[in-house]
Amino acid sequence: MAIWTAEILKEMRRSLLDWYQRAGRTLPWRNEPDIYRVWISEIMLQQTQVKTVIPYYERWLEQFPTVKTLAAADLQTVLKQWEGLGYYARARNLHQAAQQVVTDFGGQFPEDLESILRLKGIGRTTAGGILSSARNLPLAILDGNVKRVLARLIALEVPPAKALDVLWDISETLLDPKNPRDFNQALMDLGATLCTVKQPDCPHCPWRNHCQAYLNHQPTAFPRKAPKKQIPTKKLVAAIAFNLENQVFIQQRPQDGLLGGLWEFPNREGEIKSLLIQLFPDAQYERSLNTVFHAYTHFKIELEPRIYRVNLSGSGWVSLQSLKDYPFSKAHLKIIEQLQDPQLSLPL
Ligand code: ADE
Repeated sequence: MAIWTAEILKEMRRSLLDWYQRAGRTLPWRNEPDIYRVWISEIMLQQTQVKTVIPYYERWLEQFPTVKTLAAADLQTVLKQWEGLGYYARARNLHQAAQQVVTDFGGQFPEDLESILRLKGIGRTTAGGILSSARNLPLAILDGNVKRVLARLIALEVPPAKALDVLWDISETLLDPKNPRDFNQALMDLGATLCTVKQPDCPHCPWRNHCQAYLNHQPTAFPRKAPKKQIPTKKLVAAIAFNLENQVFIQQRPQDGLLGGLWEFPNREGEIKSLLIQLFPDAQYERSLNTVFHAYTHFKIELEPRIYRVNLSGSGWVSLQSLKDYPFSKAHLKIIEQLQDPQLSLPL
């Protein structure tokens, strides 16, 4: 791709690496030789910010210090470690991929691109991130931050999702073959700290004199946005059923699909009567808690928790204290927070 001369490319690499030396972040997975640890960091960092990831990353490595410990863990424990981080397929894929490493690669995390791409949950950018970071191999990356940086750099006239081939080419062209590790880390830091979505700090950017969006005085006009889809809101009612021993009823979601394997209070969209008849025929409504709001990628939910008293026990019934042993989604954690508020004087 002949956008830049060899001379300019050299200058761009040097100025980015200089900036990184001065302003790059110190992060726990930087210069980490253990490829397993780098893998965990790259998966957690997909769609999640660094400051959210750090405590999860540290707790995870205490609980699962090696790929073998992860493979041997049960899925419940894995999901519990992931609880609150969102996009739970990532945790299920990590667990499955760890088992692939044990069965297909003798317990050694593979170090060649082709093998790594066979692992569940690893695509081209994650593979490039892992191998450049852990082994300094010259593989390009293209995550959300990098797409934004590159779209601005060339003032890309279409949304990035419509020009992935072009963006991959650019990422590969720019990559410094002598310093792929630092170059990729620098590019990600540039996107996360200077070339931000709303308020890019162009005066401090090492690439400002090469950036078409900046030179045209419209950095935030890029990346071009795809037309917004309206995202629907689902109104749900959750049944928080207490039995006579003040246990509550919880159930597990199916393993595949949204929030697979997580636990929740039984809930329905709209009318909850049919669910009550099915699960708790003698339910007595007591009161409602505060409605919980949560946004997923493709829809939002409004979840009204209703407390019922029922005369049942058996499997699925647990004490309020033991709720902490089960992985729940964010929305249901917000209900549990209310249930555990001493002001609420529960159990009833
Ligand atoms: N996002 C994805 N990978 C990252 C990394 N290694 N450092 C910072 N942000 C990232």
